[in-house]
This record gives sequence, structure tokens and C-alpha cells, in this order.
Amino acid sequence: MTVRKEQLRSHLEYLSLFETELPWPSANPTVRSQRDPRELRVLPGAGEPLPRSLAEYEQAICNCQRCALGATRTKFVFADGNPRARIVFVGEAPGHDEDLQGLPFVGRAGQLLNQLLAGVGLSRKDVYICNVLKCRPPGNRDPQPVEVATCRPYLMTQLSILNPDLLVCLGRHAAMALLQTDAVMRDLRGRVIPWHGLQILVTYHPAYFLRSMNQLYLGEQDFRKLRELYDALPA
Ligand code: URA
Repeated sequence: MTVRKEQLRSHLEYLSLFETELPWPSANPTVRSQRDPRELRVLPGAGEPLPRSLAEYEQAICNCQRCALGATRTKFVFADGNPRARIVFVGEAPGHDEDLQGLPFVGRAGQLLNQLLAGVGLSRKDVYICNVLKCRPPGNRDPQPVEVATCRPYLMTQLSILNPDLLVCLGRHAAMALLQTDAVMRDLRGRVIPWHGLQILVTYHPAYFLRSMNQLYLGEQDFRKLRELYDALPA
């Protein structure tokens, strides 16, 4: 009896430490069946102590007014997808549709992202999707350096809680914000870059493919590489 109580207590402590959300109802191999209690990677720039869950963190920051975008946004866009995913996509910033719905990649670029995922047997439920900026820049202009610097700790905290294995930068702004590089996309795209114990794959932003459909084969190549990297991950 005592042993069972002890086991139950330690199981509850485990759950409260790593996950307060319900387990994702999936037997899908892209999803961890249990949060891996191995070393948590607290990424440089993340707020410490780490919040206990993504849901808790979203609640804590969703009324942010740290930069001017707080005054012009309709909705704060935290993320979409599976909080237990091993693959995380990072885009640039919410656009018009995302700002209205409060979810990332729900417009045309999002539909193309869904197609690219489906092409390698994945769906949004298998991955986690977020952006460098959580609020829409007016008129979809490029993020300003001060906005990226202000919002980056949110992303680093989010990624630290998620603890993914693979991170996909969708476009130049995501690559610049995470890798802190000025390298051009031509040099980064398709490369797998080790980063704080995980792997980053850089590809073009889906909006780029919408403008240049003849380049879509590059995105398809990158997603095939992503699938290979995923399949090679230890269980
Ligand atoms: N483009 C992005 O970078 N992010 C979104 O959420 C939508 C479009």
C-alpha cells in the first residue's frame, strides 16, 4: 500500500513537472508517448524558471504590450499543433488571417504548409507551429529588429518548454532570429545546422513558394529531408 502511494505521488510529481496538459491522444510515432525526462534544454534567452506548461505560459504572456504591435493586433498568436511534437516550425509573424483567428499559418501560406506536411505523411497534429513575432506587423511589413528582440525571449521560452528534436525555420526572419546570422537564404536553405543540442533545418517561407511556384520542388526536397531526419531520431 505504501509503495503504491509512493509510486502515485512520484507519478503526479512527474506529470506536474513536465506536462499539465492531457496526453495527446495519438499512437503517432512523431509524438512522444511520454514527456522525456532527460535533460531539459533551457535555451539562452529563455525566461527562468521555465513555466510548467505551454498553456500556463500562453496565459502569462497573451496580453503583452511590450512593443507597439500590442496596440494594433487583433489577437495574440501563440501557436498551433501538438505540444508534445518532436518537430517545431517557426515562421515569421502572423498575417491578416492569423491575426483574426489567433492561430499561426491559417491563410494561404498555411494551406501550402499543410500540403508540404501531407506530402511526407505528416499533419499539423504531428508538429508544433509558432512564429518569431506573436503579433501581426501592420500591413504585413517585415518585423523590425526591436520587435524581434522584444519577442525573442518568448520564443526561446516556448521552445525550451517544448524541448523538440527538430526545428524548421520557415524563411529568413526565422533563421535570422534563431541562428542570429545575416547569411542569405540561398546559403542556409536545405542545411541541417546543430543548435543547442537540437537540429535546425532551414527552408524557404511558404509565402515565397506561393510567389514562385516553380521553386516549390526545393520545399518538397526540404520536407523529404525533414522526414528522413525525423525517421532517424532515436525512439
Ligand atoms: N506567415 C508567417 O510567417 N506566419 C504565419 O503565421 C502566417 C504567415
